[in-house]
Amino acid sequence: MQLGYLLPPALLVLTGLWLKEGLLTHLELNSCTAKDPNFQRPSTLPEGLTCYPTRPEKRINKSPSQKMTSRQSKTNLKNTYGSGKGEPEEDYITPGPFELERLFWKGSPQYTHVNEVWPKLYIGDEATALDRYSLEKSGFTHVLNAAHGRWNVNTGPEYYRDMAIEYHGVEADDLPTFNLSEFFYSAAEFIESALQSDRNKILVHCAMGRSRSATLVLAYLMIYRNMTVVDAIEQVAKNRCVLPNRGFLKQLRELDKQLLLQRRNAQSNEEENLEEKEI
Ligand SMILES: *[C@@H]1O[C@H](CO)[C@@H](O)[C@H](O)[C@H]1NC(C)=O
Ligand SMILES: *[C@@H]1O[C@H](CO)[C@@H](O)[C@H](O)[C@H]1NC(C)=O
Repeated sequence: MQLGYLLPPALLVLTGLWLKEGLLTHLELNSCTAKDPNFQRPSTLPEGLTCYPTRPEKRINKSPSQKMTSRQSKTNLKNTYGSGKGEPEEDYITPGPFELERLFWKGSPQYTHVNEVWPKLYIGDEATALDRYSLEKSGFTHVLNAAHGRWNVNTGPEYYRDMAIEYHGVEADDLPTFNLSEFFYSAAEFIESALQSDRNKILVHCAMGRSRSATLVLAYLMIYRNMTVVDAIEQVAKNRCVLPNRGFLKQLRELDKQLLLQRRNAQSNEEENLEEKEI
């Protein structure tokens, strides 16, 4: 009889714990606002983030001559443009959202304030951006604030006015519904201009340096460094613990498809021109 009294409260407590765990995991995984600076991603995938098979989206029609040389690895996610070789592998398809998310789980260094993710290109958090003294001492010449604005990381050119720092602000919210892709090209241009000189160093930051800033850096690598979204994620994730929100990931997939189409068109035009010359 006593057991009957104890059971309902025990169940309540257990349900509460289960809900809390689920919620925390969700927050940590999906936002740029996780509070724990020592947060480390678990080494195993959370429930539901298991491997999904490659979903071929839109196969690009190949000319007969291309078909003869096409390779066999249909589901290969590996290097495609090979970081700057400018030669998209023919069988590459933009991976589905779950596969992309999975790429972030391959193991990054522990979360810290700031990391160099590409030569002279750093992703950092709010504390890094606010620390004028350290920025100057480390020789930063450019700051791209992906959380510009009064209710975000409110720095602006004024904040760095007596320093040799060029500032660019993007007023973005870390929400899946926010259209960050509107800023992909202007932000990438700013990063590229900063990296023109070896003496320059650029910090791209938001609040945590995980979602907004990472997304802009990924777009930069895709637009200016000929990387696919897969190459770009691998490059950044091996150097910093990042995770764009799902909306941003979707926008990066769209960019990947656009760039792929552009590059394939450019390539086939080139081949046609060559053929014409040979005749
Ligand atoms: C990217 O590819 C284009 C065309 O294939 C090439 O002209 C350009 O030099 C490449 N850029 C880099 C950074 O490798
Ligand atoms: C987001 O912005 C891009 C670039 O300006 C535009 O092409 C796209 O249609 C926009 N998407 C939405 C959902 O508004």
